[in-house]
Amino acid sequence: MDKFHIVGPSRLAGRVKASGAKNAALPALAATLLTEAATELHNVPRVRDIRTLCKLLEHLGMGCEERADGALVLQRFQPIEASADDAPYDLVKTMRASVLVLGPLLARYGHARVSLPGGCAIGVRPIDQHLKGLEALGAEVRLSHGYVETTASRLVGARFRFDMPTVTGTENVLMAAVLAQGTSVLENCAREPEVADLADLLNAMGARISGAGGETIEVEGVRELGGARHRVIPDRIEGGTYLIGAALTGGDVTLEDAHAADLAPLLDKLAEVGAQIDVGPAGIRVCAVGDLRAADLTTAPHPGFPTDLQAQFMALLTQTHGVATIRETIFENRFQHAPELMRMGADVHVDGGSARIQGPTPLAGANVMATDLRASACLVLAGVVAQGETVVERIYHLDRGYEGMELKLQKLGAQVARRAASEA
Ligand code: EPZ
Repeated sequence: MDKFHIVGPSRLAGRVKASGAKNAALPALAATLLTEAATELHNVPRVRDIRTLCKLLEHLGMGCEERADGALVLQRFQPIEASADDAPYDLVKTMRASVLVLGPLLARYGHARVSLPGGCAIGVRPIDQHLKGLEALGAEVRLSHGYVETTASRLVGARFRFDMPTVTGTENVLMAAVLAQGTSVLENCAREPEVADLADLLNAMGARISGAGGETIEVEGVRELGGARHRVIPDRIEGGTYLIGAALTGGDVTLEDAHAADLAPLLDKLAEVGAQIDVGPAGIRVCAVGDLRAADLTTAPHPGFPTDLQAQFMALLTQTHGVATIRETIFENRFQHAPELMRMGADVHVDGGSARIQGPTPLAGANVMATDLRASACLVLAGVVAQGETVVERIYHLDRGYEGMELKLQKLGAQVARRAASEA
């Protein structure tokens, strides 16, 4: 298991390019199950979760080829085996987003058998909304031996309201509705940009979707979908991580190839703590001059502050002046980075879904342990600003969603090296 060796403090300065969005590429890959034709996906990030889902798609008879120009071309190359466990436990347990094959398989083949994703480090993460949505479209759903089995001779368009906004829940039900007979109206949908990006791909494949990115999505079912060429949107969470690093280290970073509108909740919060924000043709520039002030933060579904940037922002709040409170409203266990930050010298007090951070406190390098994808990013940023050497263990968490993080940080002036576990 690789680790990062970081020597701080460093000031992050320069230009960095956002990779394609992991959380847009994953549903896009699942959507290729909806057609026999070839689909070309551009700007797909080379991260572990993408490789995991490609493995699952190959298990399902899809060819997944990386072209010389970097595009991923997906096309069915052998018929799906009816008996196969579509998404077996040993694949789903490593990545819960595998559940995204449920909707497309059900819509295209009338049947899907997928291992129930267990919880993960950040929470229980049930999929009841996914299943209620599929049932509303006429599917029969059975749970047995840790698997969910869904069948439907033909899905029928319906009106369905989610009990709460769920990103992959909206994406799964949307991918089922596109081949249903008749019109569906999906209400209380997730409004994350990645949902709208999936709808753009599905429409390019011949679907008839309107309203994606808003609360209500309307879908007119079609008989079949064709192939398409699609460029995945930039990763607002990966890019936002580097912008937070700029503010944290008193730096000056310009993020290229990012959509400022998708980052509005973060940019507003960075302005509130006193960072200078410039958005222009060259990209999004964040520059921190002088002391930054503490600001409270509550995570919320988009267009609220993204839970996926909460851990990284906590690292920043250890260096701002004053007391800040973070309220994590999306997941029940998403403060696992806090004890590790405290070991580096941060003054953080966690009480249920809230954390209180008193800053600024000098951070000292330490051996720390990553527990989940975004907690890892938080600890890497803390290591960059800490005095001395930080070793972040279990970097495989980071590799799930950050493409070449050590290279991007080195380019911005950080002293970060990837070491194999066996190396000192
Ligand atoms: C997506 O997860 C993202 N993953 C997560 O990113 C992100 O943190 C999350 O959305 C919230 O923005 C992908 O897109 C692959 P949810 P998802 O369903 O869809 C509850 C990362 O770091 N809920 O929007 O699984 C759930 O428990 C990852 O890249 C139900 O109760 O999240 C949570 O409290 C981590 N029943 C809330 O809704 C359901 O059926 C939001 O979860 C579904 C969800």
